[in-house]
Amino acid sequence: MEQEPEVIAMPRIGEDAPSFTAVTTQGTIKFPNDYRGQWVIFFSHPADFTPVCTSEFMTFASMQAEFKSLNTELLGLSVDGLYSHIAWLRTIKEKIEYKGMKDVEVTFPLIEDITMEISKKYGMIQPGESNTKAVRAVFIVDPKGKIRTIIYYPLSLGRNFDELKRVIIALQTADAFEVATPADWQPGDDLIVPPAGSCGTAKERVEGKDANIKCYDWFFCTKPLSKEEVFKAIQK
Ligand code: BEZ
Repeated sequence: MEQEPEVIAMPRIGEDAPSFTAVTTQGTIKFPNDYRGQWVIFFSHPADFTPVCTSEFMTFASMQAEFKSLNTELLGLSVDGLYSHIAWLRTIKEKIEYKGMKDVEVTFPLIEDITMEISKKYGMIQPGESNTKAVRAVFIVDPKGKIRTIIYYPLSLGRNFDELKRVIIALQTADAFEVATPADWQPGDDLIVPPAGSCGTAKERVEGKDANIKCYDWFFCTKPLSKEEVFKAIQK
């Protein structure tokens, strides 16, 4: 008889991040409780000692201070064991020079998940891609422990870490100013008012409130906000 395909649980945007206790390269953590009050980029990679993952870890570690200034912590995971993680990160620091990055120390925690319990909980094992390795998943979790963004990449595709930084800034800006961010938004670009999903037409809610507001039609209004104001509101 043909076997039924396994049903894969996937957490969703707007839900509480599933909780777990894990062993990491920085000690044991309880997620998301240990991170209350902070944003977290929780991400998986397929395997230690592989080239795409190495390029990703070097890039991410090099940007850690930028994420810290946005009250954002990094948390990695793969189904490799702790000693493999430690040996790989030591090799990166001692031997790898790549794109001007060298002597890179990865100080954010990297979870060991040999049993795949956590990766399965987060839908990181996607059998169509691999039964034995996690895909490149990214979960952005807010200070209340809610999942705010999910992005998945296949094994062969390295992530764009400037885009992850843009997502963090856009989410924090949307929260701080009760706005939404249009396509390709970057700090300093116009914002959308009121945010998508709020009641009433944009025009009736914003007309007359602010001379800077520009309406393209009844459903589409924007207002300017300088880069300085964005970073003043969100940067630690
Ligand atoms: C890599 O990181 O290079 C990689 C890992 C697993 C499969 C394919 C590529």
